[in-house]
Amino acid sequence: MSNPAAPRPVTVVTGGSRGIGRAIAERLAADGHDLVITYRVGAAEAEAVAASLRERGAAVLVVQADLEVAEDAARIIPAALQHFGRITGLVNNAGITGMIGDFLDVDPEESRAVFAINDLAPIILSKQAIAHMSTAEGGAGGAIVNISSGAATSGAPNTYIPYAMSKAALDALTIGLAKEFGPAGVRVNTVSPGTTHTEIHAAAGRPNAPAERAGGIPMRRAGEPHEVAGAVSYLLSDDASYTSGAIVRVTGGG
Ligand SMILES: NC(=O)c1ccc[n+]([C@@H]2O[C@H](COP(=O)([O-])OP(=O)(O)OC[C@H]3O[C@@H](n4cnc5c(N)ncnc54)[C@H](OP(=O)(O)O)[C@@H]3O)[C@@H](O)[C@H]2O)c1
Repeated sequence: MSNPAAPRPVTVVTGGSRGIGRAIAERLAADGHDLVITYRVGAAEAEAVAASLRERGAAVLVVQADLEVAEDAARIIPAALQHFGRITGLVNNAGITGMIGDFLDVDPEESRAVFAINDLAPIILSKQAIAHMSTAEGGAGGAIVNISSGAATSGAPNTYIPYAMSKAALDALTIGLAKEFGPAGVRVNTVSPGTTHTEIHAAAGRPNAPAERAGGIPMRRAGEPHEVAGAVSYLLSDDASYTSGAIVRVTGGG
């Protein structure tokens, strides 16, 4: 942080136990944040991440929550506030794609889970975080970063159209919140990764998706989680003090 006398930022990262969320949490710890990370089933992974964050000097709270369940989503910000007394940032990172395939093979029940995790949970978390951070509510201001996807603008035909829809909706959350809460000291931005090396592709039934897609990416490779994390850290920092409603693509030019 640029001002060593300033209080440490306290940032909540959903899905911080693996992949992009882990890289975001590690980068934020290195940049002076205290952290709340959440996971659904990967307790051991989450505790390993927490240990690596503490090695970087961060105070850490780990919260188990299944973001498909609204009541679970609603527990995270209160737990963060109980533990740290305040929060300054939220990264809505946890997400699922559903199985890769053609639209006619989409299972609507799976789509329900995609929208619950990728959209409803960020609505719940953002509401609670903004109620705390908004200067209109007596808060000190803050920042939110939503992790969207390049799929939001490609539509992801033959791959996962409902996921693309869920991320387009998340982009609308960013734009609307940035406008509604700009006067209240809360900045809201999106980082949209392109295909990035994580386990999300195996969960979608295509573990080799990064290699398969590399030829169609202008930079001819998939991204690495740390390449997404830097953009998130910037948007949460004072360097981005006049940046809100932005959608930053980290897509290798795609
Ligand atoms: N990787 C890519 O190519 C790519 C591209 C564009 C956008 N994104 C977006 O980036 C974000 C992170 O993706 P990733 O690739 O890092 O995914 P990932 O490796 O599959 O990690 C997902 C994280 O979210 C958590 N999570 C999954 N389902 C959850 C649920 N129901 N409730 C609570 N937590 C849950 C996981 O915790 P558990 O392990 O405990 O389940 C894990 O920490 C997602 O929003 C994704 O859509 C990824």
